[in-house]
Amino acid sequence: MTDQSRSHSEGRDLFSKRLLDSARATFDMFAIYLGDQLGWYRTLADSGWITSTQLAEQTRTSERYAREWLEQQSVSGILEVEDETADATSRRFRIPAAHVEVLVDEDSLSFLAPMTQLLSGALHPLSDVLEAYRTGQGVPYEAYGANLRAGQARMNRPMYLKLLGSRWLPAIADVHERLRADPPACIADIGCGAGWSCIGMAKAYANVRVDGFDLDAPSVELAIRNVQDASLADRVHIHQCDAREAAVDGPFDLVTAFECIHDMPDPVRVLSTMRRLAGETGVVLVVDERVSHTFTTQSEEMDPMMYGWSLFHCLPVGMADRPSAATGTVMRADTLRVYALQAGFRDVGVLPIKNPLFRFYRLQM
Ligand SMILES: C[S@@+](CC[C@H](N)C(=O)[O-])C[C@H]1O[C@@H](n2cnc3c(N)ncnc32)[C@H](O)[C@@H]1O
Repeated sequence: MTDQSRSHSEGRDLFSKRLLDSARATFDMFAIYLGDQLGWYRTLADSGWITSTQLAEQTRTSERYAREWLEQQSVSGILEVEDETADATSRRFRIPAAHVEVLVDEDSLSFLAPMTQLLSGALHPLSDVLEAYRTGQGVPYEAYGANLRAGQARMNRPMYLKLLGSRWLPAIADVHERLRADPPACIADIGCGAGWSCIGMAKAYANVRVDGFDLDAPSVELAIRNVQDASLADRVHIHQCDAREAAVDGPFDLVTAFECIHDMPDPVRVLSTMRRLAGETGVVLVVDERVSHTFTTQSEEMDPMMYGWSLFHCLPVGMADRPSAATGTVMRADTLRVYALQAGFRDVGVLPIKNPLFRFYRLQM
């Protein structure tokens, strides 16, 4: 065998192994989706060692499916099995303590179960996405359904409740001061989704009034419910509105957009609205994906995953309306700078706030 054919067969085998590992990892994610949605992880966390019959009874699900799932989870190293040799229906399983926080604790910054819900949502209109690739059209946000909205909301909720008001905004000294001062400050939150960023800011700053804006009616309904459940309806108001038009008047002391500018077909018009809402003295803050500054195959950020979201959701959704900037998830700092300048801002500063997923931009008037 020549060196060339040896390196070909090694490369082929490595790549084949990589794809087989990817198939297994994909099934892991969708099996986690089942465990999350059926309440199986919650029950495992509450019960300790448990059989398939007990799990099915406690969650009113089918024993045969529960058994298959428990076996898949233990051979995949997500759950532990007490005695592999026991009879299939007497075998007992449990969730390792270290996995509980990641799979069950909705408040933890390590909570990742909703990533599987987000993936299910992103893949929901797969045939529409395929067709869009042929025609060059987009796929509307509504086509992605409830899993995408709920997965997005549950993924970001811990960050907005635990970091936004206690780390991120306090790191911007003048904004922090203004939000604590009198008269009470006003915040506009554009593309607020399920409202957790609005709630996080209102909880952290006891005087502020927050107006959240979103185009998507089911997200607005969800946000209103979340605000009511948080007993903040007196200070947090959610509006259904298109931020391209935004028939709303400022001025607001702070205008924010969390993880949404890259999804928008017309980011320049939305940024123009944000500039108008901030008036002469308000601050405009855009929080979006932390991706590499240039195209590189050696990314130190999460570019490969961000391209995945882009392929199936962010790019098609951003191309659903015309005209479209067709940004995609991998919106680089320079791209946002171009949009901001076109929207009339003087410049864009990157704030020194550390987060593995997000980069923080202050748009300068
Ligand atoms: C990826 S989600 C982010 C939601 C939320 N900010 C978060 O971080 O969880 C993007 C949101 O932008 C909203 N959106 C897209 N275009 C919009 C527009 N023109 N005006 C208002 N909201 C818009 C969508 O409806 C969606 O809720």
